[in-house]
Amino acid sequence: MATLNFGGVEETVITREEFTLEHARQVLSEETIAVIGYGVQGPGQALNLRDNGFNVIVGQRTPSKSYEKALADGWKPGETLFSIEEALEKGTIICYLLSDAGQIQLWDTVKKHLTAGKALYFSHGFGITYNDQTGIVPPADVDVFLVAPKGSGTSLRRLFVAGEGLNSSFAVHQDATGKAQDRCLALGIGVGSGYLFQTNFKKEVYSDLTGERGVLMGGIAGMMEAQYSILREKGHSPSEAFNETVEEFTQSLIRLVGENGMDWMFANCSTTAQRGALDWRHRFREATAPVFRDLYESVATGNEARITIEANQAADYREKLEEELNEIHQSEMWQAGQTVRSLRPKND
Ligand SMILES: NC(=O)c1ccc[n+]([C@@H]2O[C@H](COP(=O)([O-])OP(=O)(O)OC[C@H]3O[C@@H](n4cnc5c(N)ncnc54)[C@H](OP(=O)(O)O)[C@@H]3O)[C@@H](O)[C@H]2O)c1
Repeated sequence: MATLNFGGVEETVITREEFTLEHARQVLSEETIAVIGYGVQGPGQALNLRDNGFNVIVGQRTPSKSYEKALADGWKPGETLFSIEEALEKGTIICYLLSDAGQIQLWDTVKKHLTAGKALYFSHGFGITYNDQTGIVPPADVDVFLVAPKGSGTSLRRLFVAGEGLNSSFAVHQDATGKAQDRCLALGIGVGSGYLFQTNFKKEVYSDLTGERGVLMGGIAGMMEAQYSILREKGHSPSEAFNETVEEFTQSLIRLVGENGMDWMFANCSTTAQRGALDWRHRFREATAPVFRDLYESVATGNEARITIEANQAADYREKLEEELNEIHQSEMWQAGQTVRSLRPKND
């Protein structure tokens, strides 16, 4: 473990230099890693583990597009690709990578196969933290831990192929074998994490739900919609409104922020942009802070979990969701986006 200094606050993290891939392979040399579910995280993690030389199998229901994808990715029926029940039976580490709603539905089946000494692995603290609502309570004689990559399974795979890695958090919820932390870290390295930082199941899910509802998706989408519609209301063209709201952000600014930080960005923009952005950031922080406080409260009380679970259980949810997504897709801003993206210069 390395102790890093984050602006004066010390934090212990795990890097690939200390917990090497070779060590991870040793730790898991006797294990069969069963990746259950081949949605978004499933493929990213299973393929990275396979390419890193671990003994991995996939459990996926069929008929399903996800099953077809697993076949296309080279998983072999009867050798490395099985029904969910068969994979659960064979696996010594069960990577439970169904959608969070799917995890609730399949829990009784999974539980049957969690015999003493096996490990149950998650990539989210949802099922365990909200177990009063999910019913996911593992037997006491299995290890329970998580590795949560901080990004999409698609990025996890892309970065791995490019020789890079997404950072992940890790947490041990239950150590029945005395080896839970080693198994957990070995998997974290095996799935291609950049560095691993420690958390617990509750903190993982609270921060994750806050992040995706806030700055990462809900918050940014809401701010984009607000700015775009004000610009349109004041007579700006769709091109102007979209470029000033989304295109410049995604194509230029946020990439530089990713490389160098917002502190650098403030120091390296025009003096006009600099003065205005430095001043207005206080107004935006003050305006949004109460919303973030409400959001965190809603996550911590389990209200967000309840809304998600109930929505997913409604018979007409998929249909209604399609309508909602289509409405966003058809909105002027995202239609403008489609046109703007199609006009981006392409290399021949
Ligand atoms: N999305 C991400 O990149 C991401 C990032 C970090 C952590 N996570 C966590 O990783 C876990 C997996 O998320 P995900 O986004 O990869 O999920 P997902 O794409 O929604 O995965 C769906 C998988 O679950 C299967 N499934 C759903 N309901 C099922 C049921 N009732 N019975 C059997 N199979 C069922 C699907 O099979 P079919 O295709 O046949 O429906 C598919 O294989 C979750 O805990 C999530 O919070 C996800």
